[in-house]
Amino acid sequence: MKKRIWLSPPHMGRNELSFVQEAFDTNWIAPLGPNVDEFEKQLSILLNGYSVAAVNSGTAALHLALKLLKVSTGDEVICQTFTFAASANPVVYLGATPVFVDSDPETWNMDPVLLEKAIQHRLSLGKNIKAVIVVNLYGMPAKMEEIVTVAAKYAIPVIEDAAESLGSSINNIPCGTFGTLGVISFNGNKIITTSSGGVLISNNEEFILSAKHLATQAKDPGPYYQHSQIGYNYKMSNVLAGIGRGQLSVLNERVEARRDNFNRYFNYFSAWNTKGFNIEFQIEPSGYFSNRWLTCILIDPVKNKGISIDAIRSLFDQNEIEVRSLWKPMHLQPVFSDTPRFLNGVSDHLFDIGLCLPSGSSLTDEGFDRIFECFDMVFSKF
Ligand SMILES: Cc1ncc(COP(=O)(O)O)c(C=O)c1O
Repeated sequence: MKKRIWLSPPHMGRNELSFVQEAFDTNWIAPLGPNVDEFEKQLSILLNGYSVAAVNSGTAALHLALKLLKVSTGDEVICQTFTFAASANPVVYLGATPVFVDSDPETWNMDPVLLEKAIQHRLSLGKNIKAVIVVNLYGMPAKMEEIVTVAAKYAIPVIEDAAESLGSSINNIPCGTFGTLGVISFNGNKIITTSSGGVLISNNEEFILSAKHLATQAKDPGPYYQHSQIGYNYKMSNVLAGIGRGQLSVLNERVEARRDNFNRYFNYFSAWNTKGFNIEFQIEPSGYFSNRWLTCILIDPVKNKGISIDAIRSLFDQNEIEVRSLWKPMHLQPVFSDTPRFLNGVSDHLFDIGLCLPSGSSLTDEGFDRIFECFDMVFSKF
């Protein structure tokens, strides 16, 4: 049987095991220790000196970000609708309501013009908007400068969900540092991984100190266990931070490999586009740099002789190649059926016609041959 080609498998480097071994040798098998400290330090250097708290998932980091902004029952948080559920779920953990805002067709991320309309409308109803959560999907930076400007006009803090965009930037400013708080995920499918993990980022050190306090059950300083606040068990394990240190040393190579993947796909589909097809991509606006975490394509059946993404998905599945639909927008999720939303049709359309392609940094030439053979079969039928 053919070996399955996965969408975005973990890709270990050369140094992870030695840092994990160090944790074993020194018996730092705990949610704190030298690997955690060093991982935070190195990330901080990468993120323009911003303060960093390593936690056990990106979702935990988002939850802490909202908690630091004092989001609570009855509040509203404006959230990009085109995203993974983890961007929105922590809003509900705190008893607040997510208000979903649609995307701009260029970056596929939050539309700044629609954001302003949403803010004005919710404020006119007397709602208390505590934060805006904007996401850099598939590694592509959102229009962060415009979004931060709109939110600042109404004194609303921005949380940048950069879960998928470590290594991306706008005019050399790294993703994760645009908002009041930023979040990165190190889940197994991300550009680098700690198997599970995340970080919270801010240039406000007080926020990061508070996040570390909340993440360790909010234990007050002192010789016994005293708590003045409800806390969480969210810190990153020192063993997993060892994996993270190793992974950080190959981050640039991983970004390069993913961008090479994108270019190979782009060249391949461009050749089909000269033969009467119209396959589209997420485009980098000028000054934007995407880590190209996942390469995604749009195949509109109307512009592509009736080819459907369902047919492609099932053919690839039969050939042991994983492809996936783009994120199903939050406003279409049954669990969020009652939430307010500001839509323009962009994310609905992207969901209908979009596919994520295998994009791992370990994808081989043979892997690409198998993927292109399948696409050749699809296109040559029409
Ligand atoms: C956009 C987005 N936000 C948040 C998360 C949550 O991160 P984690 O899986 O580390 O909790 C993920 C990834 O899983 C994600 O893709």
